[in-house]
Amino acid sequence: MSCGRLHVKIKRVCARKRSRNVFKTHLIPVRKQGRGGGREAGSTPCLLSRRSSTTMAEHRAVEVPRGSVGWTCIYSTSYSMETRQKQYCSDSEDLFGEYDSILEDTSILAKLEEAEQHERLRSENLQSFRTLQPPGDPMSQSPKGPLTDSVFHELEDKVFEDLPPSQLQFQEQIQDQAKKSKMQVQNKTSTPSHTEAAGETNSEDGSRKHSKARRSVADLLKKTMLGNAATPVGVSRTALLKEAVISEEISVAMQAMENISAETPDLGPFFGLPSKVKELMHKLRGIQKLYDWQEACLNLECVQQRRNLIYSLPTSGGKTLVAEILILRELLCRRKDCLFILPYISLVQEKVRGLATFGLELDFMVEEYAGSKGKFPPVKRRNKRSLYIATIEKAHSLVNSLIESSRLNHLGLLVVDELHMLGDGSRGAVIEMTLAKVRYMSKATQIIGMSATLGNIKDLQMFLGAENYTNDFRPVQLKEYVKLNDTIYEVDPKEENCFRFSRMLNYKYSSSMQKIDPDHIIALVTEVIPLHSCLVFCPTKKNCENVAGMICKYLKEDFLQHREAEKAVLLQELKASGNGSMCPVLRRTVPYGVAYHHSGLTAEERKLVEEAYSRGVLCLLACTSTLAAGINLPARRVILRSPYVATEFLKRSQYKQMVGRAGRAGIDTIGESILILQEKDRSMAKELVCAPMESCYSNLMQDDERGILSLILSLIGLNISSSLQQVEQFLHRTLLFVQQQQLCVERSLWDTVQRCVATLQEKELITITATHSPSLQVTRLGRAAYKGSVDLSYCSVLYKDLLKGLEGLQLSSHLHLVYLVTPYDLVPQCNPDWMVYFRQFTLLSASEQKMFAAVGVPESFVARKAAGQTVKKSVDLVAVKRMYLALVLFSLLRDTDVWAVADRFQLTRGFVQTLLSSASAFCCCVLHFTEELEELWPFKALLLELTHRLSYCVKAELIPLMEVAGVLEFRAKQLYNAGYRTLSHLANADPAVLCRTLEHLYQKQANLMVASAKMLLNEKAAALQEEVDELLTLPADLPPQQLL
Ligand SMILES: Nc1ncnc2c1ncn2[C@@H]1O[C@H](COP(=O)(O)OP(=O)(O)OP(=O)(O)O)[C@@H](O)[C@H]1O
Ligand SMILES: [Mg+2]
Repeated sequence: MSCGRLHVKIKRVCARKRSRNVFKTHLIPVRKQGRGGGREAGSTPCLLSRRSSTTMAEHRAVEVPRGSVGWTCIYSTSYSMETRQKQYCSDSEDLFGEYDSILEDTSILAKLEEAEQHERLRSENLQSFRTLQPPGDPMSQSPKGPLTDSVFHELEDKVFEDLPPSQLQFQEQIQDQAKKSKMQVQNKTSTPSHTEAAGETNSEDGSRKHSKARRSVADLLKKTMLGNAATPVGVSRTALLKEAVISEEISVAMQAMENISAETPDLGPFFGLPSKVKELMHKLRGIQKLYDWQEACLNLECVQQRRNLIYSLPTSGGKTLVAEILILRELLCRRKDCLFILPYISLVQEKVRGLATFGLELDFMVEEYAGSKGKFPPVKRRNKRSLYIATIEKAHSLVNSLIESSRLNHLGLLVVDELHMLGDGSRGAVIEMTLAKVRYMSKATQIIGMSATLGNIKDLQMFLGAENYTNDFRPVQLKEYVKLNDTIYEVDPKEENCFRFSRMLNYKYSSSMQKIDPDHIIALVTEVIPLHSCLVFCPTKKNCENVAGMICKYLKEDFLQHREAEKAVLLQELKASGNGSMCPVLRRTVPYGVAYHHSGLTAEERKLVEEAYSRGVLCLLACTSTLAAGINLPARRVILRSPYVATEFLKRSQYKQMVGRAGRAGIDTIGESILILQEKDRSMAKELVCAPMESCYSNLMQDDERGILSLILSLIGLNISSSLQQVEQFLHRTLLFVQQQQLCVERSLWDTVQRCVATLQEKELITITATHSPSLQVTRLGRAAYKGSVDLSYCSVLYKDLLKGLEGLQLSSHLHLVYLVTPYDLVPQCNPDWMVYFRQFTLLSASEQKMFAAVGVPESFVARKAAGQTVKKSVDLVAVKRMYLALVLFSLLRDTDVWAVADRFQLTRGFVQTLLSSASAFCCCVLHFTEELEELWPFKALLLELTHRLSYCVKAELIPLMEVAGVLEFRAKQLYNAGYRTLSHLANADPAVLCRTLEHLYQKQANLMVASAKMLLNEKAAALQEEVDELLTLPADLPPQQLL
């Protein structure tokens, strides 16, 4: 201040950006690199592509909207500031170089100083530019920079309002010019602009007004130049000359501004998205052109107007692409977060990997919410939008946390894949709760649901207030057949008895073969393999293994030669994934190109088998129905070994999902399915293949009203409803309400609400203050239950167990803690091998053994059972079985070898892995549960660490690599041994080099892996940055005297 001069400089963003650049190395999206680096060689535009950084403190920095290039105007208040500035930024990047036209102009300086003074008063005692945000200003959430307006408002409204008329005229002229050039740029695209979008149905008017008020690059440059240009008219020759220089400079700046406009993403050409999206779809997915139905669907009026939509098309119809385009539109054009719900963890991970590159290239976050991953509430991001990809359960918790933190309106779009799962037991109930809450709490959030197997779309439309789009397009025609004895019939619903004779099966079986394969599976599969692929759906896991083994027994030697080397590699990989152990069935079948696939395989094995099948190395998989949902593993021929899943007759939707795997788009010209029937099943099979799709019904009332009870508890806990009437009002938004005539026959919805509230009160989860109109409140236990998503049927048992645990927590090892987080719902599946149980018990330390008795598992009971004696003494069998499972988990934590542990406890390796992932998810739930209950405080720290250990039950050094979506232990070990030891190593790796270094890693896998690692690294860095920003933000409730 001593020299009383102001420097007006235009620079690129603040320290926040600078620090992020440290992380970026070559993690910056290409577009950004191009802008920041590549163009620097140019002449004029290079002014705008330069980077600089500066310290946040003592500068009022102005961030320009991100979409219009991140520029910052910094008002440096003294030369001493400038000196400090030099310390922090490489100042070659100053837009105006050494020239500063207003230095000599005292009048403008005075005005600027006045504005400066005004700003300074407001910002006294504040350490960061961010602190200038008005408290509670919705724009503080904006990625476009909070201060942009404040300083320029000051300049515009206060400084320039009393400018000489000549200057005002000059200003108007420039404004007009800027408007014109802006309009020209806009006219070049067909995209609805942000302001147009504001007119859309679900737009949030308030925030639009704010964004309108924001300044474009054009405005900022214009105003800065005006500041520079504000020299008194008609004085000296020097002044005239200076003005000429200024005009020249303005024209250069305006030219540069136009260049920026040309550089900004060309929102528009591809369904409102930049053409880059189209390029990426081509490059990454091989999709050159949308199917006609996809175009038609995206152009629907209801889609344009962001109304809710359910679309239903056959399997493989390409439904996902439409959802993804809508998601990208929401993220990039409307700048809102999105939630994509998928039914299984593996599908979530696959999607996270598949979309990571889009995120990196288009500058949004892709966040995984599956298993124990995901943060509640999610990290607030000022500069980037997030796409949360979540399992059903995690999506529900995420929505709850957004409601609780009043951020649900940030969610612009919610997509549910496999919407028919609404009718799928307790998981269906969770989807229903999630959707109903979003519908009720955030009108601006658009909901999209898709499915191939929806029977009662009308009900679902009413539930979601959605429009419907249906089409029966399938890229590859599907022909359905059934086989009865030796005859193949084509399914034709138009025929009187549904089946039309097609052909006789051509086979020559010996009598022994006829005995072993009475259903002629070998004849059916050898018609297609090894040149084409085949899936054989079997009713049980054991049957999958038997069928795979049986087929190989009769395959000719020629099959061994088909892709022999690649099959040898697969065998090696399978062996390595099991630390040297290998499934004997796979060892025998893989050389023939055959494998089985079910939940008994480890995740690594499943992945290896799936990848080998996709590449055609394996030509046949004998699988259970788990392979039918969502996973994109199509086959030329699909065989249904029988119309049963275990002992249950197939449902129509299950049948449709299975046969729907037939026909590979772009590879096969036709897909065919063959259902093997016995005479006794003939009439039921007709129904199965010809009847309309089953309806899906609300599951809120199933399992002793579990769903509706937990829904009502969370409604009260989240302050959505606080009276019986409000609860009932909310329930009007559920699918249950739509279907109440079918589902609430015995009592009305109102009666149900009353009964449920009474039950919750009995369970001490809520209290009712009995006034005229009852007011409902959750108890501490109730809050803990819904926060931890703990099933109400065992939340009080859990509470008691944890309290009891505190009395004598045995911390010499993890066993006691592991016992406390062993999932209750897996206990019924546990049949202990008593000999193993007792042996494991004897191997424990004295203090661990003592703990057994403390939790109600007497040594004598286990010993007697092991000796084969009958035990009369009554014991808590749940505790006994739960402890057995805890021993399995405890062994896993020590050994980290699934195979060895499965062997030790006589369990399948798949079950051991399922137990581990359920335990890590439940541990996370118990952690949230204990966080709400003061008396359980010691568990907070303990369970945080345990969740982490259970989530990545591997050597600690592999954990950073396994955090990357889809990197399993086997791959992590390979990477670690090759020197890629941290997330940063992997994120900065060149995929091509990785492929050369790591055995059997394909280019596509390497690309996806590196992209996911980059995304995760960006996500972590951004989360830390957000934390810094949060810390430096002015508290909204700062005492008013501090603001003077
Ligand atoms: N326009 C397109 N051109 C070429 N391939 C496409 C196109 N759209 C989608 N695909 C491809 O078709 C395959 C099936 O698509 P998708 O997984 O979306 O099917 P779906 O309708 O969701 O089927 P399901 O009901 O079985 O899940 C994918 O491999 C996808 O990349
Ligand atoms: Mg799909």
